[in-house]
Amino acid sequence: MSRNLKNPKRYRGEDRLRKVRWVLGLLRPYRKRVVVMFFAVVLASATSLAPPYLAGRAIDSGILAGDEQALVMTVIAFVILTAAYAATRYLQTYLVGWIGVRVLQDLREEVFKHIQKMSIGFFTRNRPGALISRMTNDIEALNQLISDGIVTLFSNILTLFGVVAILLLLDWHLALITFCVLPLLLVTSLVFRRYSAGAFKETRERISAITSHLQETLSGVRVVRSFGQEDRHINRMTELNTLNRQANMKTVYLNATYFPATELMTAIGTGAILLYGGYQVIYGNIQVGVVVSFIGYLQLFFDPIQQLAQLYATYQQGMAALDKIFGLLDTDVEIVDAPDAVDPGQIEGALSFDAVSFSYATEDERMDSVDQSARWAVKDIDLVIPAGETVALVGSTGAGKSTLAKLVTRFYDPQRGAILIDGKPLAHYEQRPLRRQMGIVPQEGFLFSGTIAENISFGRPDAMIDEVAAAADAVGATGFIERLPEGLETQVGERGVQLSSGQRQLVAFARIILTGPRILILDEATSSVDMQTERTIEIALDRLLADRTAIVIAHRLSTIRRADRIVVLDHGEIVETGSHDELIAADAYYARLYNAWTH
Ligand SMILES: Nc1ncnc2c1ncn2[C@@H]1O[C@H](COP(=O)(O)OP(=O)(O)O)[C@@H](O)[C@H]1O
Ligand SMILES: [Mg+2]
Repeated sequence: MSRNLKNPKRYRGEDRLRKVRWVLGLLRPYRKRVVVMFFAVVLASATSLAPPYLAGRAIDSGILAGDEQALVMTVIAFVILTAAYAATRYLQTYLVGWIGVRVLQDLREEVFKHIQKMSIGFFTRNRPGALISRMTNDIEALNQLISDGIVTLFSNILTLFGVVAILLLLDWHLALITFCVLPLLLVTSLVFRRYSAGAFKETRERISAITSHLQETLSGVRVVRSFGQEDRHINRMTELNTLNRQANMKTVYLNATYFPATELMTAIGTGAILLYGGYQVIYGNIQVGVVVSFIGYLQLFFDPIQQLAQLYATYQQGMAALDKIFGLLDTDVEIVDAPDAVDPGQIEGALSFDAVSFSYATEDERMDSVDQSARWAVKDIDLVIPAGETVALVGSTGAGKSTLAKLVTRFYDPQRGAILIDGKPLAHYEQRPLRRQMGIVPQEGFLFSGTIAENISFGRPDAMIDEVAAAADAVGATGFIERLPEGLETQVGERGVQLSSGQRQLVAFARIILTGPRILILDEATSSVDMQTERTIEIALDRLLADRTAIVIAHRLSTIRRADRIVVLDHGEIVETGSHDELIAADAYYARLYNAWTH
């Protein structure tokens, strides 16, 4: 770290090298095909150079010399080489595509795997939109550069050098005159590419502004409607659309100018060749065929220059994407298993907090803060929950209840103190087997696309259908599931039946029953449930909490009363513990909260 700060330039160089190595590593599994591909590229570039030369030969040695055999031989060579060109070009394009789609797949899997490993904190800091863009646009831009870019660069440079060499060999005077047009062509293409890259970038930005406005309008449609703000959203869309049109118009002008301009350059080149070459033919210095060849090669110049100019844009986009993807791959996973972490086996479920303090801010940010204590989300938590006990956690909004829950499941690690399970700190165990024995039910049950049964068996995909049915039954979900068109096999979500939040919550409870965690956390899991489902949920809760260690965050008195003990949090600290009656009698925090709920 200190080295990067001392010598940023050197670091940047190393960084580039590391990225290039990584990119080459992506091609490694396909190296045999990469080699064949490069052979095909060389052969295709070489054979593409033949036709203008052979056309010239056919005219000079065949037609003008009146030599039938030479004419026929040249034409045969022409056909054979063109066929060879077609074959190698096919091979080149096929292999570029073959390698490209595989690299795309590998890239996507690598980035996706990395995202899956990230700690929960990472997902609160990165919007889903940005991660989706990494997985789609950026990966595609990079793939474009890796598969297509390298080949384009290589084959066009080969062609350019080939044409230059052949022209010099054919007639160096005429060649030098032809080369005079080249810089004009090159400059026109580069200028055009520069402006159009800017213009295209602008159109992309404008379109993404439209997309995100659309996305926000759609997901916030109920808010927009209920506040009668449709017009404002329409006006905003009109503004964004106008900007988009203006950006698009720039590309329209550029496209309209570019092709005529380059054709003009080519025409000037052709004119120069005809004029100078024509004189040379008239004075008998060169043959007509040479002039014909030159005109043919001028056309061959045009393509590589264009494509190289285009490659510049591909390169810039690809490198920008590479940087962004590396930004993601370089993000360290914050919570990793210690090398000596052990598989916990079946845990008892005794849970204790030993002077636990946690802040979402970093150490530095906390130090900078004027009011240091305000930066702790939870502070000095000491709490012992014996296996099987249910604790209700109450406190006003922002008191730190959810934070405490997230610490237990190790979505974050506390900066101070430790959380112990069966007397050993969380870090003593491997994360995954430990987490499998913990259940967390958030406020809104999340359902994946698929059937109800698949959703219930999410934590145990191998569960038998009668186990799934039994789990649904245990939480009282059978009633509503039986009324669905296909029972447990009903598709839910986007293209299936929409469930109410209470029903979704019952599915989430059944999921928990099936995995049978030793420690259970309900974070306001019952608060969004309607009155009708309430009775069912109450019964479900009894089943859920029996024989488990549980932390229940709730507002509902009936839920709180089920707990063996109530813990009151305020500004991240425990201020009271006791039974409902004790705390009411104490007439402090809990009594105030209780009054607020009941009135
Ligand atoms: N992801 C987060 N990043 C930064 N601060 C957070 C985050 N989540 C919660 N907080 C802050 O931590 C404090 C406790 O929040 P939380 O545990 O969600 O409270 P509760 O669940 O009791 O309403 C609040 O001040 C909140 O603003
Ligand atoms: Mg909360």
